Amino acid sequence: MSHLVAPSLLAADFANLQRDIEFVNESDADWFHLDVMDGVFVPNISFGMPVIKAIAQHAKKPLDVHLMIVDPDRFLEAFAKLGSNILTVHIEACTHLHRTLAAIRSLGMKAGVALNPHTPVESLSEVLHDLDLVCLMSVNPGFGGQTFIERTYEKVRTLRAMANKAGVNFHIEIDGGVTASNATALVEAGADVLVAGSSIFRAANPSEATTTIKNA
Ligand code: DX5
Ligand code: ZN
Repeated sequence: MSHLVAPSLLAADFANLQRDIEFVNESDADWFHLDVMDGVFVPNISFGMPVIKAIAQHAKKPLDVHLMIVDPDRFLEAFAKLGSNILTVHIEACTHLHRTLAAIRSLGMKAGVALNPHTPVESLSEVLHDLDLVCLMSVNPGFGGQTFIERTYEKVRTLRAMANKAGVNFHIEIDGGVTASNATALVEAGADVLVAGSSIFRAANPSEATTTIKNA
């Protein structure tokens, strides 16, 4: 199966959000990647429920919601009601990760865990059967347009080997600094979901840029 592409709307033109949503609907992209930032877990604030509600009204592809917030348990139900299909929490923000993942699944969503660049993939060893997606941050979260951290390739390979050894098959998503130049190597390393913000929305031709990453 070919890999999935999830454009990050953080890089969209918020004054023309409906236009950019329609672009994703009609492109070769697979999911919408939605970055929720609270100004506490990360040094930036993005958007929250009202914006996601508006996006959900127009989006024709699954919503992949990436929560960069402290204590995400407070909002799992709210994000389910908004129509999130995949809900990803940060391991660094969850004291009771196993419980949080079970709660996400019980609300009918796919459960994702994101790891900051400094967090070893081995920290997931006891929850490999309890998750549907691992999001490896290839930049420090908080901002679009940052430089890809090369160490990520090794983390992907190690995590894919851990999954194979455990006999489970979850998505490995890469988030941050993904471009047409590193997409192929990431897929070869074992990633199967590529998030791309700047390299799609800042491209001269976003549709072509999406197709190029999709075909990487
Ligand atoms: C970063 C976000 C990313 C971001 C990626 O904190 O989680 O999803 O939008 O943007 P680019 O592709 O520009 O690095
Ligand atoms: Zn993200």
